[in-house]
Amino acid sequence: MTLQNVLVERDGLIAVVTVNRPQKLNALDDQTIAELTQCFGELSADDRVGAIVLTGAGEKAFIAGADIGVLSKQGVLDGRENARRGQALTLRIEESPKPVLAAINGFALGGGLEMALACDVRFCSPNARLGLPEVSLGIIPGYGGTQRLPRLIGSGLALQMILTGDPVSADEALRIGLVNGVLPQPELLTGVKAIAAKMIARGPQAVALAKQAARRGLQMSMRDGLELEADLFGIISSTAEMKEGMAAFLEKRKPSWLRG
Ligand code: COA
Repeated sequence: MTLQNVLVERDGLIAVVTVNRPQKLNALDDQTIAELTQCFGELSADDRVGAIVLTGAGEKAFIAGADIGVLSKQGVLDGRENARRGQALTLRIEESPKPVLAAINGFALGGGLEMALACDVRFCSPNARLGLPEVSLGIIPGYGGTQRLPRLIGSGLALQMILTGDPVSADEALRIGLVNGVLPQPELLTGVKAIAAKMIARGPQAVALAKQAARRGLQMSMRDGLELEADLFGIISSTAEMKEGMAAFLEKRKPSWLRG
């Protein structure tokens, strides 16, 4: 598929995925969802990618939601299919073996916040407004917002956001743990890339397995999660990567990781 609404740029081992429909505040229509799904599939399988940054074009919006023009025409079956397609994209982001970082450069509303919620970490600019305004439109969040927001910030605050539809400011998002940090707009992308670079400097298999342990563990009981952690700890202990990491420490040098 030729990309029309999504840009992919490489900066060393960092891939920056930019939703590029600024005239519609980067709203997600079917084409954009399909392109993002393809991009995350390809980048997740690419050995030359160490981390993925998701952002929006321009200085006004990260993603202002699912495209309301499309939503307004849907019925029962295509409504369900639409939700399934959006959810599949969020799962592709969440289950990527690479760290995925959201650089929220403005409005992150509805499907936009839902994409950010699927990322591993979120940073935003001071002008960002983050919310799930779906009930204001007479619908409910359909790309995972009802599930991921309560898990991230707790049910009380999440239900307040979901049931009022009111967005929060960048400062409020930071206070409630919805974002990890607020960075000035001109420094947002470089700041997020610097965090990505730290993750890339660590053992790539260790990073992938640590993400997997935390991500899958959140859906398990503590006992099952601990068992998963022990299994993955066993797997990482069999790798050349572990030998290199330990040897580099003992020899007082930087580790040299193998990718692929
Ligand atoms: N779907 C489709 N188009 C959207 C959109 C969306 N989610 N969000 C913004 N746009 C479009 C607007 O229709 C407008 O297009 P036009 O110039 O062809 O009329 C363009 O993007 C610019 O938006 P505009 O509303 O003029 O900007 P604003 O600065 O006045 O307001 C927002 C910004 C984000 C407050 C406002 O656009 C908004 O409320 N968007 C909808 C957010 C939402 O409810 N998202 C969840 C959907 S489930």
